[in-house]
Amino acid sequence: MSPHPVAVFVSGTGRHLENFARLAESGELPIDVVLVLANREGIGALERAQRLGLTSLVLDPERELDSEEFSRRAFTACEDAGAQTVLLAGFLRRLAIPPAWRGRVLNIHPSLLPAFGGQGYWGERVHRAVLERGCRISGCTVHYVDDEYDHGPILVQRAVTVEPGEDPDSLAERVFAAELEAYPAALLEHLGK
Ligand code: GRF
Repeated sequence: MSPHPVAVFVSGTGRHLENFARLAESGELPIDVVLVLANREGIGALERAQRLGLTSLVLDPERELDSEEFSRRAFTACEDAGAQTVLLAGFLRRLAIPPAWRGRVLNIHPSLLPAFGGQGYWGERVHRAVLERGCRISGCTVHYVDDEYDHGPILVQRAVTVEPGEDPDSLAERVFAAELEAYPAALLEHLGK
């Protein structure tokens, strides 16, 4: 069976992008990364895309478009590239999901949603808030994307125990290790494998 074509949307370092590309290359995931879409220039994810030989596109780095127009162009680019599923991987811009794409856009968030999600909760801020609140458990969530930040039906969650003396960096590292396993697992579930 031919691999399932995916687009990966990025704004940051691109560790998930590289993980997906590696799993596609090794045959562990039946996917083909047909497009990398970034909303910023000069980010690590674009360097990785180039190194991995992936097609990339930077859309509206100056933020001139509203989210409807940005989304319209982004999903048109996905259609042009033949993508059937979109994976948000460290992507920090709100999208207006076109009706035809509902249920085909996935995101990963570094907390157990619905806790510590929504606007402003990204990166280190999430882990700092978890620790400030005294949570004993954190983790990550892969969910379908709708028009609200970190909202939409949940596909997969992985819990991570908060250790005594933990700081945001150490928690981020352990949550990220769980993410590297959770996101491919969620994609397989989405693909019905
Ligand atoms: C992860 O913490 C993920 O949960 C969040 O962005 C981070 C990954 O960024 N959405 P990247 O893949 O290294 O760019």
